[in-house]
Amino acid sequence: MTDSRIALVTGGNRGIGLEVCRQLAARGLHVLLAARDEERGERAAESLRAGGGQVAFVPLDVADEASVHALARAHPRVDVLVNNAAVLLGEDGDALSIPLGAYRESLEVNFLGPLALCQAFVPGMRERGHGRVVNVSSGAGQLSGMGGYAPAYSASKAALNALTRLVAHAGGRRVLVNSVDPGWVRTDMGGQSAPRSVEQGADTVVWLATLPEGGPSGGFYHDRRPVPW
Ligand SMILES: NC(=O)c1ccc[n+]([C@@H]2O[C@H](COP(=O)([O-])OP(=O)(O)OC[C@H]3O[C@@H](n4cnc5c(N)ncnc54)[C@H](OP(=O)(O)O)[C@@H]3O)[C@@H](O)[C@H]2O)c1
Repeated sequence: MTDSRIALVTGGNRGIGLEVCRQLAARGLHVLLAARDEERGERAAESLRAGGGQVAFVPLDVADEASVHALARAHPRVDVLVNNAAVLLGEDGDALSIPLGAYRESLEVNFLGPLALCQAFVPGMRERGHGRVVNVSSGAGQLSGMGGYAPAYSASKAALNALTRLVAHAGGRRVLVNSVDPGWVRTDMGGQSAPRSVEQGADTVVWLATLPEGGPSGGFYHDRRPVPW
């Protein structure tokens, strides 16, 4: 089945992002697989094209505003934006001892990157009267359960959740914007002892990316169910 919708997935070269690209392509969407390394991005896109998907590699470093603008100039129309790329730095210490630089880097990639991408693509969605944004967050970003785990990462994911609420408001009724906690997933970030597969981690992301008109917006989901902020 083909579909004219264009989906942009950041951090698409591996892990959950690659699986999201695969599942969206399997549903017939045209996928822009964004990655910062050209060779790894091209290789990932080629592996999905070999499975029949319409997938193109696009270069993107989400922490580099010029890179975001260059992508928006090359591909002005994006119907589905999946903000998946993120870093989890080795955070050895508590909130008071982690260096400011770790907070800065985490916020640059995990919050300001998605914000720049929303600013680049959501106005077009709003004008066309259709759009979906999925912010791949984390249970670590839940204020309701926040403790001492990875302070810079956790703060950046809480900020990403705030972005979900703000963009859901700014995007208007027809642009559906949601956050997802994929759970603990076996990837480079999650490690090999994680209990969930990338297929399980990607499922709710893809569900939110392909919500029908009138679907929920401004929410936080895990396994297709709302969870507390
Ligand atoms: N795995 C888990 O257990 C888990 C749990 C909760 C939430 N999450 C979230 O799920 C999402 C995907 O995680 P994952 O487990 O698949 O992680 P992963 O395997 O470490 O992949 C991270 C991806 O982000 C990309 N990335 C990092 N910095 C970037 C930048 N500045 N510009 C562009 N791309 C950048 C990486 O690209 P390079 O290859 O170039 O580094 C890679 O493609 C993240 O948002 C993560 O926070 C994961």
